[in-house]
Amino acid sequence: MTVPFAPAPVDVRSQSRYPRQAAGDHQPNSEGAVLEQGFIPDASNSRAFRDALGQFATGITLVTIASESGPMGFVANSFSGLSLDPPLVLWSPARSSSRFGHFANAAHFSVHILRDDAKDWIARFGRLGAGFDGVPHVFTPEGTPVLNGALARLDCALHDTHDGGDHLIIVGRVLRCHSNAGQPLVFSQGKYGRFQQQP
Ligand SMILES: Cc1cc2nc3c(=O)[nH]c(=O)nc-3n(C[C@H](O)[C@H](O)[C@H](O)COP(=O)(O)O)c2cc1C
Repeated sequence: MTVPFAPAPVDVRSQSRYPRQAAGDHQPNSEGAVLEQGFIPDASNSRAFRDALGQFATGITLVTIASESGPMGFVANSFSGLSLDPPLVLWSPARSSSRFGHFANAAHFSVHILRDDAKDWIARFGRLGAGFDGVPHVFTPEGTPVLNGALARLDCALHDTHDGGDHLIIVGRVLRCHSNAGQPLVFSQGKYGRFQQQP
């Protein structure tokens, strides 16, 4: 069978201009539109790839665990709801994180969905932050340290893990869920903001 208008095969990796142009439809369609040019993500353009991913707007979560080194928290926007029945959620810590081993192996964890007034939690639980030191916290029946006042909190048991390249996909089964009134802290294009409903 012949394929009409099939483009000639192109070795796109031999085209060394940055950002690299992926193979695609460069012929105008009947309305004169051509494919917006893209690039093939690789080590040379990881900043541009991160920026493209960062166009996606997310909320921000704080994932907490009990560890041999005490209570720990990890700021993550890779959180997603996964399944209603059974109730499953996921998030992805980077394998390069100094705390990766603790979070990858925790039997229980809690996900706090941050409210728009909780931006200071991000610095507190970042690399140079004080973490749980000096902040009042309580414990779930499973022994996970948690902070009150999140927009929502999901207490989880480790359900499964999956390979996620330089990250690990951690799936948790939700044991308990708590919601508060309020608005979410939103993250997109490397900036924090608030959700604004459109009319
Ligand atoms: C808004 C925001 C979202 C983040 N999301 C993730 C994430 O989903 N996964 C991840 O591995 N690191 C994420 N990070 C970075 C981690 O919170 C952490 O700072 C980084 O992995 C360094 O960890 P380490 O201090 O244990 O080495 C995020 C940071 C910020 C500020």
